[in-house]
Amino acid sequence: MTRITVMVSGGGTNLQAVIDAAEAGTLGDASVVLVISSNAGAYALERAARHGIPSVVIGREEYPDPEERTGAILDALKGAETDLVVLAGYMSVLPPALIRAYRDRIINIHPALLPKFGGMGMYGIRVHRAVLAAGEAESGATVHFVDEGVDTGRIILQERVPVLEGDSPETLAARVLEAEHRILPEAIRRLTKAD
Ligand code: GAR
Repeated sequence: MTRITVMVSGGGTNLQAVIDAAEAGTLGDASVVLVISSNAGAYALERAARHGIPSVVIGREEYPDPEERTGAILDALKGAETDLVVLAGYMSVLPPALIRAYRDRIINIHPALLPKFGGMGMYGIRVHRAVLAAGEAESGATVHFVDEGVDTGRIILQERVPVLEGDSPETLAARVLEAEHRILPEAIRRLTKAD
């Protein structure tokens, strides 16, 4: 079995898409064994609870010291015997020690067509604002491996969506999110099949 830990910070609709795919049996033998949230108020925690998935909150509030925070995340990942880490709306940058420990076993969903509109400060609604400000004709979603850079790791899967006339950052975000919910489970499916 491929044991997945999903790391979240917010609403968790991508977490939900992964849980739904696992429960529907379309992720093969993969299942979500742990959810780590950087934020105690994340609705994603309720989604985990509703599906009987254990969760833990490891954020700046709980662990102000960055090294202790990294240690707590590593302990949680190891304790759950994690094979694959999925960043699904995780709004912190992972420290190098964590990336080294799980090299090529951490993937992230990003709400744009990388390498465009990625990097430090490009997260959440800011990405969609930047895409509209640049007058792009299309946007999309990207699943990629996480390396030491920000949004620079090898791309696994992308899906394009059009930017429509009259789009606001919110309407564009909603269209991109639908694509995210398709490609995140699909990327996991591909990675775990190759095991
Ligand atoms: C998603 O759009 C995800 O791509 C984005 O945050 C949203 C989380 O939604 N992630 C980033 O911007 C990371 N750089 P969710 O909590 O409903 O899955």
